[in-house]
Amino acid sequence: MSSRRIGILTGGGDAPGLNAVIRAVVRHGGGQLGWEIYGVEDSFNGLMETPCRVRELNVQNVTGILPRGGTILGTTNKGDPFAYGPDKVDLSERVAKSVEALSLEGLVVIGGDGTQALGLRLMEERGVNVVGVPKTIDNDIDATDYTFGFQSAVSVATEALDRLHTTAESHARVMVLQVMGRDAGHIALHAGLAGGAHCIVLPEIPYDIDRICQKIERRRALGKLYTLIVVADSARAIGKDPESYQEVYGKGLVRAGGPGPTLAHQLAERMEIDIRVTVLGHLQRGGSPIPFDRILATRLGVEVVGLIEEARWGEIVVLQNQEIVGIPIRESIACYRGVDPDGQMVKTARAVGIEFGG
Ligand code: F6P
Repeated sequence: MSSRRIGILTGGGDAPGLNAVIRAVVRHGGGQLGWEIYGVEDSFNGLMETPCRVRELNVQNVTGILPRGGTILGTTNKGDPFAYGPDKVDLSERVAKSVEALSLEGLVVIGGDGTQALGLRLMEERGVNVVGVPKTIDNDIDATDYTFGFQSAVSVATEALDRLHTTAESHARVMVLQVMGRDAGHIALHAGLAGGAHCIVLPEIPYDIDRICQKIERRRALGKLYTLIVVADSARAIGKDPESYQEVYGKGLVRAGGPGPTLAHQLAERMEIDIRVTVLGHLQRGGSPIPFDRILATRLGVEVVGLIEEARWGEIVVLQNQEIVGIPIRESIACYRGVDPDGQMVKTARAVGIEFGG
């Protein structure tokens, strides 16, 4: 047992498994090693405000959170301590002072590349010790084989495809499902493969609408009067700018539009079809994590405690070849991973007849 006081926060968009990480850190660091763990509310915001918004976490008050989606600490993607609010005020010094006033030895920062970059900057410029746990449903961090939340999102998207499948078949319709992923097409590719989609449209493979039309026609010629199309939320036609996810989800409003409706419109202009679009949106981020994500999140939580024990500040825990290892945060945020258009997953999909439109 050692007396240590550590803060923990969640930043950026939520992902199923955040609570499982918090629970693991509290059970291992707090329950077994005797540390005091303070949960910081709403990312770094809880340390920017006076008084700070923190609360002590212990084995009792994290009971039951393993299967819960979201984050018990709250989160935001509008919490840059170096440029806070519309006036972009630098509150980073205040964060450092709060950390000192609370006698926190360091912070466990659970978040995507944006949150990790902020944590690293706080460490380098303000002397706040940080260790990281990567989080995103998009699975676009190259340093880790998987991020928790991704498989849960894929599972929701796959179930959506299964459900659309029956309606598509019954009504002889083309069904378009738009899924999340920001700039990466991993959710679309995985869900498309798992859900038996006939076309998968990815940002990494700009599409030629005629190829999608031809696929629908080829299916019709075989007597298959319906088609399932999965579209990633940054997909784009050849030569066009990506329809940015901000355009779809910007300012907290889900607007009509996005690549799913665009693609449906383009198809309807070219062929006689009955077509419907489903924008799956935040259903992919909410709810309970699937077992894979609960386990991964728990492993990451335990191993990030290990990093702190060894004073490996500035490192982040990642999954590499089945093992959780620590690597520099800088390294993890430097390498983005999109779908490899020539990779095995795409080749597999093509080999079972899936059309990418490019
Ligand atoms: O990065 C996670 C993600 O869910 C993306 O897949 C999606 O494009 C975006 O965030 C949506 O952001 P918001 O929750 O701010 O609307």
